[in-house]
Amino acid sequence: MNVYDGQRIAAMLEKHGLTQTNNVEDADIIILNTCAVRAKATDKVYSALGRIRRAKKENALLGIVGCVARESGADAFKRIPELNFVLGPQSYHKLPEILKNPDTKLLNIDMSGLEKFDELPQMTKSPLVAYIPIQEGCNHCCTYCIVPYTRGRELSRPFDDVIADTINAAKTGAIEICFLGQNVNGYKYTDENGKLYKLSDLIRETAKLPEIHRIRFTSSYPTEMSDDLIEIFGKEPKLLPFLNMPIQSGSPRILKKMNRPDDIDAYKTIVNKLKSVRGDIQISSDFIVGFPDESDEDFEQTLQIAREIKYINSYSFKYSPRPHTAAALMPNQISEQIKSVRLQRLDLQLNENQREFNMSCIGKEMVCLFEGNDKTGKHLVFRTPYMQQCIVEKPDHEITPLQKIKITDANKSCLRGEIIK
Ligand code: 5AD
Ligand code: SF4
Repeated sequence: MNVYDGQRIAAMLEKHGLTQTNNVEDADIIILNTCAVRAKATDKVYSALGRIRRAKKENALLGIVGCVARESGADAFKRIPELNFVLGPQSYHKLPEILKNPDTKLLNIDMSGLEKFDELPQMTKSPLVAYIPIQEGCNHCCTYCIVPYTRGRELSRPFDDVIADTINAAKTGAIEICFLGQNVNGYKYTDENGKLYKLSDLIRETAKLPEIHRIRFTSSYPTEMSDDLIEIFGKEPKLLPFLNMPIQSGSPRILKKMNRPDDIDAYKTIVNKLKSVRGDIQISSDFIVGFPDESDEDFEQTLQIAREIKYINSYSFKYSPRPHTAAALMPNQISEQIKSVRLQRLDLQLNENQREFNMSCIGKEMVCLFEGNDKTGKHLVFRTPYMQQCIVEKPDHEITPLQKIKITDANKSCLRGEIIK
């Protein structure tokens, strides 16, 4: 979501005649697009601001947008007096106001809903992978999560607006569409005639576009994985065989405290249904270790589920107490030391899953999407349908963005392959 917001911010400022630079010393405006999901992310923002305020040109405008802006509000100006603007995730379309009035302090952390989508200028060129937000916010108050506070209550965008963005992306260079939402599979939009549209409708409509070859979506909430959505994995070949469906913990006792779906068998049933309609599907998850009161037995259950589902491409985090969340006030907070040990053990398991899956790809042919050159300039980097990185020798002929690649080697972090002409 932040990558998408960053692209929109850049496009908006380019319309105002600005160009991008990676050098703080050269910049006339410096924007930190921020995440508040864990304390470490928030801390990084303030340490970066400390560095930047010393390095920037005297008159350069400096500000933060996104969830840390929403969380800090006017306090941010007290902590960093050099800040010129503080704009929440739903108000960054107001950014041009600071260009018009550089001598003011611009603060906007309103939860104005979907207004920004109407006000942002249309993108004129799409990256190969176009991120299209279909809903914002989240109604699933997981007790550890700051998102319902920073991004607000869940709102689904009108079906026609999403399709218009998708068509625009397809006409301006996109090959892959990634639908985005904090609770993406909870997408529900009822039009003025009472017709209900769901994520499966968006996928079906998008798959009709000849320019679009790959479709995916992230992040899914397990109990919103409805049958129509499961079935479309079997019917629509453009939908990639890879799904991020976080379980967070393998312990029903902890899941209950997290206010998450706690029926592990029901979760496994969804995975099995997906496998029965699409035999080659792989699942990824997010995990939190060291949630308050998590015992060794609870943690063992997390290891057990990671082994059993054979998750690939997953993310794992130490629990981080966040303001405005219920879990931060729960008793039996777990020590940093125990969290670190558990994270290390879980990562061993997740890496092993990834290595095993990557090795199983050797000898296979996959259609992969071009991502860029590697650091040496001698190789090209592609993404497989499972979001693995695949590195190939730079060929002496022109390539197209989608290439059939034969996988020749693999390790835990990436694949190597050869382009099939
Ligand atoms: N501490 C650690 N991880 C968290 N996440 C969300 N809130 C927290 C927190 N307080 C993780 C979840 C979520 C991902 C985006 O971030 O795993 O799926
Ligand atoms: Fe946060 Fe995701 Fe839970 Fe919503 S479903 S509260 S975004 S972890």
